[in-house]
This record gives sequence, C-alpha cells and structure tokens, in this order.
Amino acid sequence: MSGQQEKTFYLETFGCQMNVHDSEKVIGTLVHQGYRQVETVEEAHLVLYNTCSIRDKAEQKVFHRLNDYKKLQAQGKKFGVLGCVAQQEGEKIFEKAPYVSLVAGSASYRNLPAMLIQIGAGNKRVTGLDDRETDLTFETDFTARTNPHRGYITIIEGCDKFCAYCVVPYTRGKERSRTSDSVLAEARQMADLGYTEIQLLGQNVNAFADPLGKKTFAELLYAIGEIPGTRRVRFTTSHPRHFSKDIVDAIVASPRLCDHIHLPVQSGSSRVLKAMNREYTREMYLEKIAWIRSAAKEISLTTDMIVGFPGETEAEFEETVTLLHEGQFDGVFTFKYSPRPNTPALSMIDSIADAEKSKRLQILQERQREVQRANYEKRVGQILEVMVEGKNEARGQIIGRTSQNITLNFTVPENVTPAMGSYVNVLVTRSFPNSLVGEMA
Ligand code: SAH
Ligand code: SF4
Ligand code: F3S
Repeated sequence: MSGQQEKTFYLETFGCQMNVHDSEKVIGTLVHQGYRQVETVEEAHLVLYNTCSIRDKAEQKVFHRLNDYKKLQAQGKKFGVLGCVAQQEGEKIFEKAPYVSLVAGSASYRNLPAMLIQIGAGNKRVTGLDDRETDLTFETDFTARTNPHRGYITIIEGCDKFCAYCVVPYTRGKERSRTSDSVLAEARQMADLGYTEIQLLGQNVNAFADPLGKKTFAELLYAIGEIPGTRRVRFTTSHPRHFSKDIVDAIVASPRLCDHIHLPVQSGSSRVLKAMNREYTREMYLEKIAWIRSAAKEISLTTDMIVGFPGETEAEFEETVTLLHEGQFDGVFTFKYSPRPNTPALSMIDSIADAEKSKRLQILQERQREVQRANYEKRVGQILEVMVEGKNEARGQIIGRTSQNITLNFTVPENVTPAMGSYVNVLVTRSFPNSLVGEMA
C-alpha cells in the first residue's frame, strides 16, 4: 500500500457536543501526524467512529456501521472505535467486530500518535482505555475546529453524579475541571483567530471547579464575555443541582452571555427524581427556574425529559406533563427510558412497556408543541440579532440563530448577502413551534 493512501482517515461522529468537539481534537491530532481527512469510507485507510452510548439505539448505530463496511476490511482498511461505546465495551469490541484494531476512550486522545504508530506496526488490538481517572488536563495539543466563527471549549470532563439511568460516569470517568487560566488562554486565542462565539462544554458545565480556585463558573462566563472580539458566550449542559443564581446574574450583567439556559429536569415527579438520584425535587427545580423567569432579561429555557423510568406511574407522568406548562420551555428533548449497562436502574424492573413509553413520549411532545407555539408567537414583532449560519437556497432565506438559541430564517433586500458568521438585526414576522421567520431590519 502506498504511503499516500496509508495516511488518509475517515471519521464519523455520534452523540453530544462533547463528542463533536472531541472529534475536532482527534482530527487536529491526526492532521498533525500527517494524515489527511477524506469524505468517504472507501477513500480512507483508517476508518474511525466516535461513538455514543447514551441510549441503546445510539450504541447499536456503531455496530451497524461496522457491519456495513466489514467487507472493506479485506482491502487493508483499519477500523477504530472511539468515544463512549469504546470506553464502555472496551476489549469486548474486538470480539464483536474482529476487524477493529483500535478501541480508545475520550481521555486517551492525547496518546493517539503513539496508538497510530502501533497500528502502523501491525498491532491488531490497540487500546486507549484506562486513564480516565488520572488524566487531569484532557486537552490535546491540536484542535481542528470546523466552524471559523463559533468554537467549543471543554472546561470540565466526566461526571460524578451517577444518575440511576446514565452511562456517562462510566464512559467519561470522574469529574475534572481545567484551570480558569487555561480556559481563558484558549478563549483569547480563539478570539484572536476571529471566533466571535464561544461555547463552553461539560457533561455538567456548571459543576466547573477551578483547580486554582481563582474563578467560579459565573465569574469564568463573565471573564470570557470580556475578551475583546467575543460577542457570544454559550454553555451546555447545566445540572440543576449546581445551578446557582449568580449564573442568572452574570447573564443579566453581561450582554455577551447568551440569553439561553439548557437545564435538564428529567421528570416532574419528586418521587421519580429521587429514584433517578437527581438530588433535587420538583419544587427545588421550580425555585431555580423562578430566578430565570424573574431576571431583568428574557432568558430562554430548554430542558430534557425522560418518560417511562422504571416504576413511573400514570400520575407521576402527569406531573411531568404539568411541568411543561409551569416551565414554559422553548424546547424540550424527550427520551424514552433506555436500560443501560452498568447503571443502577438496570436492576430495577423496566416495568413500562415500550408502547406505553411511546404513548407518553407522544403526549409530551404534543403538549410541548402547544407551549412552544404560544411562546414563539410572542416574539413576532421583536427585532432580534442573529448570527448568520447558512442559506436556504430553495426558500430564498438566510438561516440565523438568536442569542436565545432560536432559529430565525429571514429574507434580505436584493443585492444584500450577509456573510457567514456576521451579525444582523432581524424583524420577526412569523412564528412556528420550532423556529421564527423574519426580514432583515
Ligand atoms: N449531564 C446532563 C445530561 C447529559 S445526557 C444532565 O444531567 O442534565 C443527555 C440526556 O440524555 C439526559 O439529560 C437524559 O435526558 C438523556 N438520557 C441519559 N440517559 C438516558 C437513558 N438511559 N435513557 C433515556 N434517556 C437518557
Ligand atoms: Fe448522566 Fe446524571 Fe451525569 Fe447527567 S448528571 S451525565 S444524566 S449521570
Ligand atoms: Fe453520548 Fe458519551 Fe455524549 S454517551 S451523549 S457521547 S458523553
């Protein structure tokens, strides 16, 4: 095989934004090693999947992919499984898919160059699986960000919460934060490169605990907003347990902090929340969102909800439905409970039939659609600033995103073409349950 061909890789990413950003680190590292990224599996010598295992369906996807391309192994291609399924299943992946030669979890990406050398040397079972506990920096030296205007920064990795249903503590390891100094240095570097939007990432981003003790999470947000060139700062995902009022105060005080908070509630029933090990009640959650609602700024709130957790009664599900109305969310990600390996909930009886879970999911989604229809309707007539994200040629519209993280598609006068990544004021003229339409103001 020619040297040229040996140095191409294909990478497909599943899962959350942390995975998307991890893939940017993997790409940066591989490119630095002289690899070239290609668009198809066929062109690549090294085929990588950065995987997610949050629900069973997500996990199955990677095995389907591996199966689809199994035959290509005969052409000398190497396959690698990265991310959460890799960490969860470990060397078992070599048994399930013997043509895989690399299995590596997210904490090992800094060691990718060494792992690639081993693969090159013909080692058929290369692993990077065991440094989740000791790895404190979790940053790689190279990151290939794909969007030139908006970029991610991981500020905290892992999770110590052990919610009864969740694999993340097992796939991502212990919670560990970067120093505020290193986060600020990366943010300044990005601002110098022309990034105007910075998105801070963490499985529980607001559990950030500066190892130097210099800054709280809210102070870090504020400091990033102060960096010259920065126009928008976002952060995801916040955990209600660590959600403190100073985060709301920082958003109110700094025009650069986006007016949006994603705060997953999971259930509206305090009994279910306790069984889930969320360590807050419905009332505590409502108290926290009251800070958001009483802020001197309209802050958009979104959440995640799980239906059909073991033992969830009709009445408990109904409490989740009523929380939709109390919460007035602008978006809800709804999931059917999916039993996951290693988790405490696995030993509880998955008592609710799939059809019942589907029914509950549908009810939740229908009700939420009504809530959103009314919420989005209220924005008609407002002038909102958007960052330009793309173009819908067919509709003759520009795609924009508001500070509140809402998609606002808009028309522009003839001969005007706003640049990607630029900021434009838009008058909202119409609303849908999931997006707004307007015209350049
Ligand atoms: N750390 C965040 C959530 C990260 S996981 C938090 O605690 O809020 C993203 C979402 O996936 C969760 O909010 C939850 O709604 C969903 N999820 C996680 N495990 C799940 C499971 N086993 N079945 C169904 N949904 C799940
Ligand atoms: Fe999973 Fe809970 Fe950790 Fe969120 S806080 S990642 S749901 S264990
Ligand atoms: Fe999935 Fe791992 Fe993210 S399980 S949701 S890719 S942390």
